[in-house]
Amino acid sequence: MDNFLKDVLKGLQSSPKYLQSKYFYDKKGDELFQKIMASGEYYLTNCEMEIFTTQIAEIADAIVDGQRQLDVIEFGAGDATKSSHLLKELLKRKAIGAYFPIDISNHIIELLNRALPPMLPGLNIHGLNGEYFSMLSKANEISNNRKLVLFLGANIGNFKFNEMPQFCNRLHNELSAGDLVLIGFDLKKHPRKIRNAYDDAQGFTREFNLNLLTRINRELNADFDIEQFDHYASYDPDNGACKSYLVSLAKQDVCIGKNHLIYFEKDETIFMEISQKYSIEEINKTALESGFTPVAHFFDGNKYFTDVVWRVEK
Ligand code: AVI
Repeated sequence: MDNFLKDVLKGLQSSPKYLQSKYFYDKKGDELFQKIMASGEYYLTNCEMEIFTTQIAEIADAIVDGQRQLDVIEFGAGDATKSSHLLKELLKRKAIGAYFPIDISNHIIELLNRALPPMLPGLNIHGLNGEYFSMLSKANEISNNRKLVLFLGANIGNFKFNEMPQFCNRLHNELSAGDLVLIGFDLKKHPRKIRNAYDDAQGFTREFNLNLLTRINRELNADFDIEQFDHYASYDPDNGACKSYLVSLAKQDVCIGKNHLIYFEKDETIFMEISQKYSIEEINKTALESGFTPVAHFFDGNKYFTDVVWRVEK
């Protein structure tokens, strides 16, 4: 049984039901995510872009140590719009060895390998297609330069509250003393501002969530009636958890392939995604508890978002 089918059945046979948000990103899902990022409500992308365009010299100052070149490794590189500002600054300072963008999509890696060299002359780019940590060890085998790992875009928020420190511990274990990480976190703020970002008026986030049901129909031969599901986003200011759900609008059975029948009660929910929000205190605490020293943090003008630089201690 393929992993997608296995994960979908496991999630829909659980109580309460859930699906994994990593499956949002098929071709249509990628397009919808671009639309979300361009929407007025989804402030995260613009905030991080503001940090990278207005404070790039200060970010580079916090990273470059004047003597040794560093390799930049980017988890989930996407189109590298933000990181290319940093790469340009590091090239200018002759501080970069190689750039290793890592992405689960081979399409993205091929695109970056082709598109970045003409934009950033002199950049030594080595795209790696695969899972973050196995590709990080590959990058470690290829070069023993000091490392900077980028994990931007508040992707870290898509880990559950208890999974996030595990990820940071693992990152620490895979790196060497003196290596750096630069991570983008979305900060706690007015609850309505956060909830609106995950419930935009044009309905892109709604479509983004429903699109996973369409993908299951297409790829796993299921028969979800998309009209019979609604999207619901919640934000709990007590714990910073922003959660997305799909809600069944009727009692209904859904077939997945020939052999699996899933029953939904009216108003039963499928948990789709968490986008965890943090305070600076929580971020610093995680850094220290997972073996890093916080070196610097950069904010947008509204203090909605932060990019933090941590150094590995061993
Ligand atoms: C990719 N990730 C950081 C986005 C987020 O904000 O959690 C995914 C997303 N889901 C709905 N809107 C955006």
